[in-house]
Amino acid sequence: METAQRPPIRVVVFDAYGTLFDVYSIGVLAEQLFPGKGDALTRLWRERQIDYTRLRTLSNRYQPFDVVTRDALRWTADALGLALTEAAETQLMARYAQLSAHADALDALRALKAMNMRLAILSNGTPAMLDVLVEHTGMQGMFERVLSVDAVGQYKTAAAAYQLAPDAFGLPAREMLFVSSNGWDACGGAWFGYTTIWINRSGLPAERLGVTPDATGDSLHEVVRFITART
Ligand code: LAC
Repeated sequence: METAQRPPIRVVVFDAYGTLFDVYSIGVLAEQLFPGKGDALTRLWRERQIDYTRLRTLSNRYQPFDVVTRDALRWTADALGLALTEAAETQLMARYAQLSAHADALDALRALKAMNMRLAILSNGTPAMLDVLVEHTGMQGMFERVLSVDAVGQYKTAAAAYQLAPDAFGLPAREMLFVSSNGWDACGGAWFGYTTIWINRSGLPAERLGVTPDATGDSLHEVVRFITART
């Protein structure tokens, strides 16, 4: 019998950047362009990008994720004292549009499809960015819906952003498993009311936010185990 604590999972909703797509796969190009600074550039760029999504949402100044990403790149180059030429910026942004998939992503998606799970993406990325990445990584046909916060002009962790998946599927959030490798995003999803799993790829400490995801794992295979254990 289904209990209130353990509702059935009817849809698996994936965060995109960091969860399915490797934001640090940009590092090789960054290192080629700026020897000795590739790692710092990649990490600081990601942090600033997420900072800007939060600032813009808090202050009601939405700009699409590609714009925010470019702005964060420019700020990061300034902060690190790197001379970011137009050509280098174009190259880095083009690579960002074609990030690699994490090695576990396709296998996990295929396993979930084989279990007849309904799959979706819910991301800060724009619809165009997400479409390109899904295609580029061979994930086309995997997702019933690719949902972008662009539809509401607010980034995660705004409730309006997380509300997109329950609205799209007509299901309560608790009957959806929200999967994110970003600790803050897993917490945001849990606050919102999803059943959540945090894919802690880098062995980071748990966020100190007074909320705990329903499960934690170190790869997307944990999602398959979680669903298997529920059915
Ligand atoms: C996303 C960011 C949070 O895909 O990684 O929404």
